Amino acid sequence: MTDGSQLRRWVLAKRPQGVPHADDFRLEQAPLSELQDGQALIRVDHISVDPGMRSRLSGDSYAPALPIGATIESAGVGTVLTSRNAKLKEGAQVWGGFGWQTHAISDGRGVQALDPAIYQGAIKATAAIGIFGIPGLTAYFGMAEIGKPKAEQVVLVSSAAGTVGATAGQLAKIAGCTAIGLAGSDAKCAYLKEIGFDVAINYKAAGDLTSAFKQAAPKGIDIYFDNVGGETLDAAIMNMRRGGRIVVSGQISEYNTTTPRGIRNTLPFITQRLRMEGLVVYDYGAQFVEARTQMAAWVREGKLTYREEIIDGLEQAPAAFIGLFSGDSFGRRLVHLGG
Ligand SMILES: NC(=O)c1ccc[n+]([C@@H]2O[C@H](COP(=O)([O-])OP(=O)(O)OC[C@H]3O[C@@H](n4cnc5c(N)ncnc54)[C@H](OP(=O)(O)O)[C@@H]3O)[C@@H](O)[C@H]2O)c1
Repeated sequence: MTDGSQLRRWVLAKRPQGVPHADDFRLEQAPLSELQDGQALIRVDHISVDPGMRSRLSGDSYAPALPIGATIESAGVGTVLTSRNAKLKEGAQVWGGFGWQTHAISDGRGVQALDPAIYQGAIKATAAIGIFGIPGLTAYFGMAEIGKPKAEQVVLVSSAAGTVGATAGQLAKIAGCTAIGLAGSDAKCAYLKEIGFDVAINYKAAGDLTSAFKQAAPKGIDIYFDNVGGETLDAAIMNMRRGGRIVVSGQISEYNTTTPRGIRNTLPFITQRLRMEGLVVYDYGAQFVEARTQMAAWVREGKLTYREEIIDGLEQAPAAFIGLFSGDSFGRRLVHLGG
Protein backbone atom coordinates (compact mmCIF):
# COMPACT_ATOMS: atom_id res chain seq x y z
CA MET A 1 0.00 0.00 0.00
CA THR A 2 1.20 3.53 -0.66
CA ASP A 3 0.35 6.38 1.74
CA GLY A 4 -1.79 8.23 -0.82
CA SER A 5 0.93 10.81 -1.52
CA GLN A 6 1.63 12.15 -4.94
CA LEU A 7 5.00 11.56 -6.55
CA ARG A 8 6.72 14.74 -7.68
CA ARG A 9 9.82 14.55 -9.83
CA TRP A 10 12.05 16.63 -12.07
CA VAL A 11 12.57 15.29 -15.58
CA LEU A 12 14.81 16.40 -18.42
CA ALA A 13 12.66 18.60 -20.67
CA LYS A 14 15.33 19.36 -23.28
CA ARG A 15 19.07 19.10 -23.75
CA PRO A 16 20.90 22.13 -22.31
CA GLN A 17 22.97 24.35 -24.55
CA GLY A 18 25.90 25.72 -22.56
CA VAL A 19 25.15 26.43 -18.89
CA PRO A 20 21.89 24.63 -18.03
CA HIS A 21 18.76 26.76 -17.72
CA ALA A 22 15.61 26.28 -15.62
CA ASP A 23 13.62 25.52 -18.84
CA ASP A 24 15.74 22.43 -19.43
CA PHE A 25 13.90 20.75 -16.54
CA ARG A 26 10.18 20.03 -15.95
CA LEU A 27 8.43 19.28 -12.65
CA GLU A 28 5.88 16.47 -12.96
CA GLN A 29 3.34 15.04 -10.55
CA ALA A 30 1.64 11.63 -10.61
CA PRO A 31 -0.14 9.31 -8.16
CA LEU A 32 2.15 6.78 -6.49
CA SER A 33 1.61 3.30 -7.88
CA GLU A 34 0.60 0.39 -5.63
CA LEU A 35 3.44 -1.72 -4.23
CA GLN A 36 4.01 -5.18 -5.67
CA ASP A 37 5.48 -8.10 -3.72
CA GLY A 38 9.22 -7.52 -3.23
CA GLN A 39 8.90 -3.72 -3.44
CA ALA A 40 9.21 -0.94 -0.87
CA LEU A 41 8.07 2.68 -0.90
CA ILE A 42 10.85 5.07 0.08
CA ARG A 43 10.34 8.71 1.02
CA VAL A 44 13.36 10.56 -0.40
CA ASP A 45 14.64 12.94 2.27
CA HIS A 46 17.74 14.46 0.62
CA ILE A 47 19.02 14.41 -2.94
CA SER A 48 22.36 15.45 -4.38
CA VAL A 49 23.19 17.81 -7.22
CA ASP A 50 26.37 16.75 -9.02
CA PRO A 51 28.52 18.56 -11.59
CA GLY A 52 29.24 15.26 -13.35
CA MET A 53 25.54 14.94 -14.27
CA ARG A 54 25.96 17.87 -16.68
CA SER A 55 27.61 15.78 -19.42
CA ARG A 56 24.83 13.18 -19.37
CA LEU A 57 22.19 15.84 -19.96
CA SER A 58 23.77 16.47 -23.39
CA GLY A 59 25.15 13.10 -24.48
CA ASP A 60 26.90 9.89 -23.53
CA SER A 61 29.50 10.13 -20.79
CA TYR A 62 30.73 7.59 -18.18
CA ALA A 63 27.13 6.32 -18.54
CA PRO A 64 24.68 6.78 -21.44
CA ALA A 65 22.94 10.13 -21.98
CA LEU A 66 19.84 10.67 -19.86
CA PRO A 67 16.79 10.31 -22.15
CA ILE A 68 14.44 13.28 -22.56
CA GLY A 69 11.55 12.83 -20.11
CA ALA A 70 13.62 10.73 -17.67
CA THR A 71 13.93 11.62 -13.98
CA ILE A 72 17.18 13.49 -13.31
CA GLU A 73 19.53 10.98 -11.71
CA SER A 74 21.23 11.66 -8.40
CA ALA A 75 22.12 10.05 -5.12
CA GLY A 76 19.60 10.23 -2.30
CA VAL A 77 18.98 9.25 1.30
CA GLY A 78 15.50 8.31 2.40
CA THR A 79 13.23 6.42 4.77
CA VAL A 80 11.33 3.22 4.03
CA LEU A 81 7.65 4.09 4.52
CA THR A 82 6.00 0.80 3.52
CA SER A 83 7.66 -2.46 2.58
CA ARG A 84 6.85 -5.74 0.92
CA ASN A 85 10.59 -6.51 0.70
CA ALA A 86 12.18 -8.44 3.58
CA LYS A 87 15.50 -6.59 3.16
CA LEU A 88 14.00 -3.09 3.36
CA LYS A 89 12.52 -2.70 6.84
CA GLU A 90 9.86 -0.08 7.44
CA GLY A 91 11.39 2.94 9.17
CA ALA A 92 14.94 2.11 8.00
CA GLN A 93 17.13 4.90 6.63
CA VAL A 94 18.50 3.95 3.23
CA TRP A 95 20.53 5.45 0.41
CA GLY A 96 20.58 4.82 -3.32
CA GLY A 97 20.35 6.44 -6.73
CA PHE A 98 16.82 7.77 -6.21
CA GLY A 99 17.00 10.80 -8.49
CA TRP A 100 15.28 14.16 -8.12
CA GLN A 101 11.95 12.85 -6.85
CA THR A 102 9.97 12.78 -3.62
CA HIS A 103 9.46 9.01 -3.49
CA ALA A 104 11.02 5.90 -4.94
CA ILE A 105 9.50 2.47 -5.35
CA SER A 106 12.33 -0.01 -5.15
CA ASP A 107 12.83 -3.76 -5.40
CA GLY A 108 15.94 -3.29 -3.27
CA ARG A 109 18.50 -3.30 -6.09
CA GLY A 110 21.03 -0.51 -5.57
CA VAL A 111 19.45 0.48 -2.25
CA GLN A 112 21.35 0.00 1.00
CA ALA A 113 20.43 0.51 4.63
CA LEU A 114 22.71 2.97 6.43
CA ASP A 115 25.24 1.17 8.60
CA PRO A 116 24.56 2.24 12.22
CA ALA A 117 28.24 1.65 12.99
CA ILE A 118 29.08 4.61 10.71
CA TYR A 119 26.02 6.88 10.90
CA GLN A 120 25.93 7.79 14.56
CA GLY A 121 26.78 10.80 16.69
CA ALA A 122 27.98 13.71 14.61
CA ILE A 123 27.92 11.66 11.37
CA LYS A 124 24.51 12.26 9.83
CA ALA A 125 22.72 10.18 7.19
CA THR A 126 23.48 12.82 4.54
CA ALA A 127 27.18 11.90 4.74
CA ALA A 128 26.21 8.72 2.86
CA ILE A 129 25.81 10.83 -0.29
CA GLY A 130 28.68 13.18 0.50
CA ILE A 131 31.98 12.26 2.05
CA PHE A 132 31.07 8.55 2.19
CA GLY A 133 29.32 8.68 -1.16
CA ILE A 134 30.59 9.26 -4.69
CA PRO A 135 32.45 12.57 -4.06
CA GLY A 136 34.39 11.37 -1.00
CA LEU A 137 35.18 8.03 -2.63
CA THR A 138 36.42 9.81 -5.77
CA ALA A 139 38.93 11.69 -3.65
CA TYR A 140 39.89 8.51 -1.81
CA PHE A 141 40.53 6.37 -4.90
CA GLY A 142 41.98 9.22 -6.95
CA MET A 143 44.58 9.78 -4.27
CA ALA A 144 45.18 6.13 -3.30
CA GLU A 145 45.27 4.61 -6.79
CA ILE A 146 46.64 7.39 -9.00
CA GLY A 147 48.10 10.18 -6.85
CA LYS A 148 49.82 7.76 -4.43
CA PRO A 149 50.96 10.52 -2.04
CA LYS A 150 54.14 10.12 -0.01
CA ALA A 151 55.20 12.15 3.02
CA GLU A 152 56.62 15.58 2.21
CA GLN A 153 55.31 15.67 -1.33
CA VAL A 154 53.42 18.71 -2.59
CA VAL A 155 49.79 18.24 -3.64
CA LEU A 156 47.76 20.86 -5.52
CA VAL A 157 43.95 20.48 -5.54
CA SER A 158 41.48 22.49 -7.64
CA SER A 159 37.87 23.19 -6.66
CA ALA A 160 39.25 22.45 -3.22
CA ALA A 161 36.25 23.74 -1.26
CA GLY A 162 33.97 21.19 -2.95
CA THR A 163 33.57 17.74 -1.41
CA VAL A 164 35.93 15.94 -3.78
CA GLY A 165 38.61 18.63 -3.47
CA ALA A 166 38.34 19.19 0.28
CA THR A 167 38.55 15.45 0.89
CA ALA A 168 41.52 15.04 -1.48
CA GLY A 169 43.40 17.84 0.28
CA GLN A 170 42.76 16.39 3.73
CA LEU A 171 43.87 12.93 2.52
CA ALA A 172 47.08 14.58 1.30
CA LYS A 173 47.59 15.99 4.82
CA ILE A 174 46.92 12.56 6.39
CA ALA A 175 49.67 11.20 4.10
CA GLY A 176 52.07 13.87 5.40
CA CYS A 177 52.09 16.07 2.30
CA THR A 178 51.90 19.82 1.84
CA ALA A 179 48.42 20.65 0.49
CA ILE A 180 47.72 23.67 -1.69
CA GLY A 181 44.06 24.36 -2.45
CA LEU A 182 42.43 26.50 -5.13
CA ALA A 183 39.01 28.04 -4.61
CA GLY A 184 36.99 30.89 -6.07
CA SER A 185 36.47 33.17 -3.05
CA ASP A 186 38.26 34.42 0.06
CA ALA A 187 35.62 32.75 2.26
CA LYS A 188 36.30 29.39 0.62
CA CYS A 189 40.06 29.96 1.02
CA ALA A 190 39.58 30.68 4.74
CA TYR A 191 37.70 27.38 5.03
CA LEU A 192 40.55 25.53 3.30
CA LYS A 193 43.01 26.86 5.91
CA GLU A 194 40.58 25.82 8.70
CA ILE A 195 40.53 22.22 7.47
CA GLY A 196 44.30 21.99 7.24
CA PHE A 197 45.41 23.10 3.77
CA ASP A 198 48.84 24.74 4.09
CA VAL A 199 48.18 27.26 1.33
CA ALA A 200 44.88 28.46 -0.18
CA ILE A 201 44.80 30.44 -3.42
CA ASN A 202 41.78 32.39 -4.61
CA TYR A 203 42.32 31.57 -8.28
CA LYS A 204 39.94 34.32 -9.39
CA ALA A 205 42.10 36.99 -7.73
CA ALA A 206 45.54 35.41 -8.21
CA GLY A 207 46.33 36.79 -11.67
CA ASP A 208 48.70 34.58 -13.65
CA LEU A 209 48.20 31.06 -12.26
CA THR A 210 51.52 29.68 -13.50
CA SER A 211 53.33 32.31 -11.38
CA ALA A 212 50.96 31.85 -8.44
CA PHE A 213 51.65 28.10 -8.37
CA LYS A 214 55.40 28.72 -8.70
CA GLN A 215 55.25 31.02 -5.68
CA ALA A 216 53.20 28.54 -3.63
CA ALA A 217 55.37 25.54 -4.58
CA PRO A 218 58.86 26.81 -5.51
CA LYS A 219 60.23 23.26 -5.81
CA GLY A 220 57.27 22.08 -7.86
CA ILE A 221 54.12 20.00 -7.48
CA ASP A 222 54.23 16.21 -7.10
CA ILE A 223 50.49 15.55 -7.44
CA TYR A 224 47.86 17.70 -9.08
CA PHE A 225 44.34 16.56 -8.22
CA ASP A 226 42.38 18.13 -11.06
CA ASN A 227 38.68 18.86 -10.75
CA VAL A 228 38.48 21.69 -13.28
CA GLY A 229 40.72 21.26 -16.39
CA GLY A 230 41.30 24.22 -18.71
CA GLU A 231 43.79 27.00 -17.94
CA THR A 232 44.29 25.80 -14.37
CA LEU A 233 45.44 22.41 -15.61
CA ASP A 234 47.87 24.02 -18.04
CA ALA A 235 49.31 26.20 -15.25
CA ALA A 236 49.70 23.14 -13.01
CA ILE A 237 51.47 21.19 -15.77
CA MET A 238 54.05 23.99 -16.02
CA ASN A 239 54.82 23.57 -12.32
CA MET A 240 54.98 19.78 -12.01
CA ARG A 241 58.03 18.18 -10.49
CA ARG A 242 59.87 15.31 -12.18
CA GLY A 243 57.79 12.10 -11.96
CA GLY A 244 54.65 14.04 -11.01
CA ARG A 245 51.15 12.58 -11.31
CA ILE A 246 48.01 14.36 -12.45
CA VAL A 247 44.78 12.79 -11.20
CA VAL A 248 41.97 13.69 -13.59
CA SER A 249 38.88 13.66 -11.41
CA GLY A 250 36.74 16.29 -13.14
CA GLN A 251 36.87 19.05 -15.75
CA ILE A 252 34.12 21.38 -14.59
CA SER A 253 35.45 24.34 -16.61
CA GLU A 254 34.77 22.29 -19.77
CA TYR A 255 31.36 20.80 -18.93
CA ASN A 256 29.30 23.59 -20.49
CA THR A 257 31.38 24.07 -23.64
CA THR A 258 30.90 22.34 -26.95
CA THR A 259 34.50 23.15 -27.95
CA PRO A 260 36.76 22.20 -25.04
CA ARG A 261 39.81 24.38 -24.52
CA GLY A 262 41.92 21.29 -23.92
CA ILE A 263 45.54 21.03 -22.79
CA ARG A 264 48.19 23.19 -24.46
CA ASN A 265 51.29 22.54 -22.36
CA THR A 266 52.36 19.03 -23.26
CA LEU A 267 56.17 19.35 -23.35
CA PRO A 268 56.60 18.96 -19.55
CA PHE A 269 55.13 15.45 -19.88
CA ILE A 270 58.43 14.56 -21.55
CA THR A 271 60.90 16.78 -19.74
CA GLN A 272 59.42 16.05 -16.29
CA ARG A 273 58.33 12.43 -16.98
CA LEU A 274 54.75 13.18 -15.96
CA ARG A 275 51.78 10.83 -15.86
CA MET A 276 48.17 11.89 -16.15
CA GLU A 277 45.33 9.45 -15.50
CA GLY A 278 41.58 9.76 -15.14
CA LEU A 279 39.25 7.73 -12.97
CA VAL A 280 35.60 6.75 -12.84
CA VAL A 281 34.98 6.03 -9.19
CA TYR A 282 32.44 3.27 -9.89
CA ASP A 283 35.33 1.09 -11.12
CA TYR A 284 36.38 0.73 -7.46
CA GLY A 285 32.94 -0.40 -6.25
CA ALA A 286 34.28 -3.64 -4.75
CA GLN A 287 36.43 -1.57 -2.36
CA PHE A 288 33.82 1.03 -1.32
CA VAL A 289 32.99 -0.56 2.05
CA GLU A 290 36.65 -0.73 3.04
CA ALA A 291 37.26 2.88 1.95
CA ARG A 292 34.17 4.14 3.79
CA THR A 293 35.20 2.35 6.99
CA GLN A 294 38.66 3.92 6.82
CA MET A 295 37.29 7.41 6.12
CA ALA A 296 34.71 7.10 8.92
CA ALA A 297 37.54 6.28 11.34
CA TRP A 298 39.39 9.41 10.21
CA VAL A 299 36.25 11.49 10.63
CA ARG A 300 35.78 10.19 14.18
CA GLU A 301 39.46 10.90 14.94
CA GLY A 302 38.99 14.47 13.70
CA LYS A 303 41.47 14.01 10.82
CA LEU A 304 38.83 14.39 8.13
CA THR A 305 35.93 16.84 8.10
CA TYR A 306 33.20 17.68 5.63
CA ARG A 307 30.91 20.55 4.91
CA GLU A 308 27.32 20.33 3.70
CA GLU A 309 25.11 22.99 2.23
CA ILE A 310 21.42 22.08 2.44
CA ILE A 311 18.84 23.82 0.25
CA ASP A 312 15.17 23.34 1.07
CA GLY A 313 12.54 22.09 -1.35
CA LEU A 314 12.40 19.88 -4.44
CA GLU A 315 11.44 23.00 -6.46
CA GLN A 316 14.97 24.32 -5.85
CA ALA A 317 16.81 21.35 -7.40
CA PRO A 318 17.46 22.84 -10.87
CA ALA A 319 18.67 26.17 -9.43
CA ALA A 320 20.87 24.31 -6.93
CA PHE A 321 22.39 22.33 -9.80
CA ILE A 322 22.87 25.34 -12.09
CA GLY A 323 24.61 27.21 -9.26
CA LEU A 324 27.39 24.61 -9.20
CA PHE A 325 28.77 26.14 -12.39
CA SER A 326 29.02 29.70 -11.09
CA GLY A 327 30.81 28.91 -7.83
CA ASP A 328 27.61 29.53 -5.88
CA SER A 329 27.96 26.20 -3.99
CA PHE A 330 30.15 25.73 -0.92
CA GLY A 331 30.68 22.13 0.21
CA ARG A 332 28.41 19.20 -0.57
CA ARG A 333 25.26 20.74 -1.99
CA LEU A 334 22.14 18.73 -1.15
CA VAL A 335 18.44 19.44 -1.49
CA HIS A 336 16.19 18.60 1.45
CA LEU A 337 12.80 17.19 0.45
CA GLY A 338 11.32 15.71 3.60
CA GLY A 339 11.97 13.80 6.81
N1 LIG B 1 35.77 10.91 -11.81
C1 LIG B 1 34.75 10.58 -11.04
O1 LIG B 1 34.39 9.41 -10.87
C2 LIG B 1 34.02 11.69 -10.34
C3 LIG B 1 33.01 11.43 -9.39
C4 LIG B 1 32.41 12.52 -8.75
C5 LIG B 1 32.78 13.83 -9.08
N2 LIG B 1 33.74 14.03 -10.02
C6 LIG B 1 34.16 15.38 -10.41
O2 LIG B 1 34.85 15.96 -9.31
C7 LIG B 1 34.75 17.39 -9.40
C8 LIG B 1 34.33 17.95 -8.05
O3 LIG B 1 33.05 17.45 -7.68
P1 LIG B 1 32.26 18.00 -6.42
O4 LIG B 1 31.02 17.17 -6.32
O5 LIG B 1 33.18 18.09 -5.25
O6 LIG B 1 31.80 19.42 -6.91
P2 LIG B 1 32.34 20.87 -6.55
O7 LIG B 1 33.83 20.86 -6.57
O8 LIG B 1 31.68 21.35 -5.32
O9 LIG B 1 31.79 21.67 -7.81
C9 LIG B 1 31.25 22.96 -7.75
C10 LIG B 1 32.37 23.98 -7.63
O10 LIG B 1 33.19 23.93 -8.81
C11 LIG B 1 33.84 25.18 -8.97
N3 LIG B 1 33.71 25.62 -10.36
C12 LIG B 1 32.56 25.80 -11.06
N4 LIG B 1 32.84 26.21 -12.31
C13 LIG B 1 34.18 26.32 -12.39
C14 LIG B 1 35.08 26.71 -13.44
N5 LIG B 1 34.62 27.06 -14.67
N6 LIG B 1 36.40 26.70 -13.17
C15 LIG B 1 36.87 26.34 -11.96
N7 LIG B 1 36.07 25.96 -10.94
C16 LIG B 1 34.74 25.95 -11.15
C17 LIG B 1 33.13 26.16 -8.05
O11 LIG B 1 33.96 26.40 -6.93
P3 LIG B 1 34.92 27.72 -6.88
O12 LIG B 1 34.09 28.80 -6.24
O13 LIG B 1 36.06 27.28 -6.06
O14 LIG B 1 35.26 28.05 -8.31
C18 LIG B 1 31.88 25.41 -7.61
O15 LIG B 1 31.42 25.82 -6.34
C19 LIG B 1 33.72 17.68 -10.51
O16 LIG B 1 34.43 18.08 -11.66
C20 LIG B 1 33.04 16.36 -10.71
O17 LIG B 1 32.54 16.20 -12.01
C21 LIG B 1 34.37 13.00 -10.65
